[in-house]
Amino acid sequence: MKNLRPFKLERYYTLYEHTSKYSLCNSDCEAMTIKDLLNLENGAEEQLHNTWLGYTKPKGDPILRTAIASLYDHISPEDITVCTGAQEPIFLYSHAALEKGDEVIVQSPYYQSLASVPESIGCQVREWMVRYKDNQPYFDLDELKKIITDKTKAIHLNAPHNPTGYLFTKEEQKAIIDLARSQGIIVFCDEVYRELEQNPADRIPTIADVYENGVTVGVMSKAYGLPGLRIGWVVTKNSKILDRISVLKEYTTICNVAPSEFLAGVALRNRAQILERNLDIIRSNMELYSTFFDKYSHLFSWNKPNAGPVAFIKMLFDNDDTGFAEKVLKKQGVLILPGGIYDYEGYFRIGMGRKKIPEALEQFEIYVQENLMK
Ligand SMILES: Cc1ncc(COP(=O)(O)O)c(C=O)c1O
Repeated sequence: MKNLRPFKLERYYTLYEHTSKYSLCNSDCEAMTIKDLLNLENGAEEQLHNTWLGYTKPKGDPILRTAIASLYDHISPEDITVCTGAQEPIFLYSHAALEKGDEVIVQSPYYQSLASVPESIGCQVREWMVRYKDNQPYFDLDELKKIITDKTKAIHLNAPHNPTGYLFTKEEQKAIIDLARSQGIIVFCDEVYRELEQNPADRIPTIADVYENGVTVGVMSKAYGLPGLRIGWVVTKNSKILDRISVLKEYTTICNVAPSEFLAGVALRNRAQILERNLDIIRSNMELYSTFFDKYSHLFSWNKPNAGPVAFIKMLFDNDDTGFAEKVLKKQGVLILPGGIYDYEGYFRIGMGRKKIPEALEQFEIYVQENLMK
């Protein structure tokens, strides 16, 4: 643990998320109250009141694991362990599967724990860096091939990707799996933004469904907008990794929060409705952003992501993303996420899943008008 470097993004949110007046950069969709959630299912309120507050089953409530299995094609409840958010499964998987001296390839820029937990274990991290062509992000498979060595233990992906919004095609996913399978490499995919594809036809299979050494992480926090439940899960057909995760979980949380498990089940059984609402919010914010970035195309360059609730904006007027974010926050009270948080200069991340984006964007525009248009 002492080798873990501070988590830049989570530090930033700890400092500013609950104090800034406006936010343009959250990666979760709009949350809801317990009452709104319970209203989605007949009898749910009474069941919540009758939920037993004893220790729960360490691998997760069987009813919830059945609901999670239904998100995938060939996954059974036994392939799933329910955990706390997505952060705990990333931590547990890394400790279960990786050892000092292993090499780990991480799709980059990355959500920091995908690289810093392996680093803290003593792994060598190699970045598979995003490239841009005509403003569109992509990941070059030839580059991936070149950074694989005989010490590569795992490839860490995030699809849809935070912060670029990039989603692999099915063909690209297959090519990555073929490559990994031929060399016995684990593919770990953080799929917390799955189900937020603009066109459902673009959705790719969960990695655990199509690769025997694939490990998937999913969560209630993002697409379903329920981070306060702190319910996530890890899925894999690799029973050695899953068993080891169970052993390690006895040192972290032992079991999950009973009311949260129940509420997550309600949400998953009613997920079509929740997803429709959240995708509507994303679409309407995406239109606003499009109009905005078209209007200021000499200052910002933007590519509309085809999946997920975030986009990575290139600054054309300056490279100092951290300074820019500081000024926007100080002058207008608007929180944006500077690229420096991802060690990627000259960009900032925006979010699209929250209802209050329009008013935050108005304030951001005032900043732009008053400070960048002179
Ligand atoms: C890619 C990615 N993985 C994992 C997480 C952590 O999710 P949770 O807050 O549910 O633990 C986040 C949160 O921002 C994320 O963006």
